[in-house]
Amino acid sequence: MKKIIIAIDGYSACGKSSTAKRVAAALNYAYVDTGAMYRSVTLYFIEHYIDLTNPKSVSKALDEISITFHHNKSSNQNETFLNGLNVEKKIRKMEISQKVSEVAAIKAVRAAMVKQQQKMGKSKGIVMDGRDIGSVVFPDAELKIFMNADFDVRAERRQKEFFDKDQLVDLDEVKENLRSRDKIDTTRAESPLVRPADAVDVDTTHMFLEEQVDHIVQLATGKMMNV
Ligand code: CDP
Ligand code: CDP
Repeated sequence: MKKIIIAIDGYSACGKSSTAKRVAAALNYAYVDTGAMYRSVTLYFIEHYIDLTNPKSVSKALDEISITFHHNKSSNQNETFLNGLNVEKKIRKMEISQKVSEVAAIKAVRAAMVKQQQKMGKSKGIVMDGRDIGSVVFPDAELKIFMNADFDVRAERRQKEFFDKDQLVDLDEVKENLRSRDKIDTTRAESPLVRPADAVDVDTTHMFLEEQVDHIVQLATGKMMNV
């Protein structure tokens, strides 16, 4: 069977990365969490006090950033490394969630990330999730998924994730963060979150994680036999 590119886009906390990870494992494909890349850039900008309004500082900082993913055998998870340091935990904190959409709206940041993402998908056999994967990074992806779930369900799922990582975050704070990120992500000038015309919609509100994984694996298998 031919290798394909699977692009999964959608709103925050609807299940993109949990699904993408499992689909990649089922197909023996690579998985790239592009949100982790924007989160890592945000962490670097915060830690180095980068002035987001100064294009020279932003561009210099981008040249200093190297983001890689490494598989942790004991947790069986991919972890994100920023300039050689494991930042997986740090980038999931609320402080990063509150700043990331502002950073991800900067043209130079997007250009740098998209370039790396396109390189990672060069030999196909990849599942990538984010906001602009089917529209900008891989407009010719063989399978595009546009994922969504009801707002309240997304907020509860995200709050539970924080709780599972020992972070108690108020549900209203989670809702406010999702609302504000959805707004910035869908209205920014540079590659906003849009539903690609040729995407398959997957609404996970009433689904179990394994159901959406099986559904996408089936769609992918169909495509792999036909390319
Ligand atoms: O996991 P969650 O859906 O909350 O967010 P994420 O996928 O980790 O992405 C964090 C933020 O990065 C998003 O809210 C977007 O602002 C930005 N992002 C983006 O602009 N383009 C992507 N391809 C992926 C993420
Ligand atoms: O990547 P994105 O922000 O879209 O969402 P996620 O981090 O993959 O998913 C948020 C949470 O929803 C995770 O804890 C998933 O296990 C959970 N979940 C799901 O993804 N799908 C369901 N049908 C039910 C729960």
